[in-house]
Amino acid sequence: MPTLSAPRHLLDLHLLDAATVRRIVDDAHTMKRAGKRVPPAMRPAGIEDAVLVMIFEKPSTRTRVSFDIAMRQLGGQTIALNHTDLQLGRGETIADTARVLSRYADAIMIRANKHATLLDLAEYADIPVINGLTDESHPCQVLADVQTFEESCGPIAGKTVAWVGDGNNVAVSWMHAAVRLGFSLRIACPPSLAPDPKVVEWVNKEGGDVSIDSDAAGAVAGAACVVTDTWVSMGQTDAAHRKQLLAPYAVDAKLMSMAAKDAIFLHCLPAYREHEVTAEVLEGPQSRVWDEAENRLHAQKAVLAWCLGA
Ligand code: CP
Ligand code: NVA
Repeated sequence: MPTLSAPRHLLDLHLLDAATVRRIVDDAHTMKRAGKRVPPAMRPAGIEDAVLVMIFEKPSTRTRVSFDIAMRQLGGQTIALNHTDLQLGRGETIADTARVLSRYADAIMIRANKHATLLDLAEYADIPVINGLTDESHPCQVLADVQTFEESCGPIAGKTVAWVGDGNNVAVSWMHAAVRLGFSLRIACPPSLAPDPKVVEWVNKEGGDVSIDSDAAGAVAGAACVVTDTWVSMGQTDAAHRKQLLAPYAVDAKLMSMAAKDAIFLHCLPAYREHEVTAEVLEGPQSRVWDEAENRLHAQKAVLAWCLGA
């Protein structure tokens, strides 16, 4: 693989410049059009000798399988490990793990319990590190979400997206994307489950168009897209309390009818029917959730191609 002075990590969308975020989404569209056979010009040099190591501290269906297949379709190989398979599970530090894996592999994707683990890994790795979800963000998901939005609604710049529900890790990556890609994001959530104030501060400093309110109907009014996510993210233990707080934020047909006439519905999955979304909406004509899940594969190819220097 080409030697890069500084590895191209994909840790969070706000750490990339706007042109890079745009480029990755554009490449995801191109990758999708190309199908399984990635055009040679989009394959990183030396990809046939490259290996992506994937570390999971939490379960995954989409992220695990889409990254694995994306790397294979690019021409490279993968190793997937649960953290308990590694000495990490017995107390070896993430810094030591990063230095050792950098001697074998060409990139690392991690799904980490704590965002600090991702940052430590990136600090000590000499190869690109990719955020496959942490407790704080899920950038690869939102790249695929933007791709899905654009397939139905055209370029996202200037459009309005409504996030309804928990102000969680996926919501934070939507906030980063809103700033980098120039769209409006209206978040409706219970005040006690609002996104991290540090992210709000960053949005404001960047002059982003993100509002946070407790009124679901107000957020959805006229929006081109309504997005939600599970009420109980992996690792959260206060399920009963969260379900009580979030009950007024369930996305149902009535709420969807307040959005733009041709609005779409997105959910990163896994979904819990009759909790954050009704089966009617999830399975209905406005839902794009299966395209969204598919687009993880195309977006992952674009992410890997960028990280590995194509
Ligand atoms: N949306 C998403 O990241 O799904 P997995 O947890 O299955 O990877
Ligand atoms: N917010 C969810 C996303 C799952 C893909 C979680 O962190 O569990």
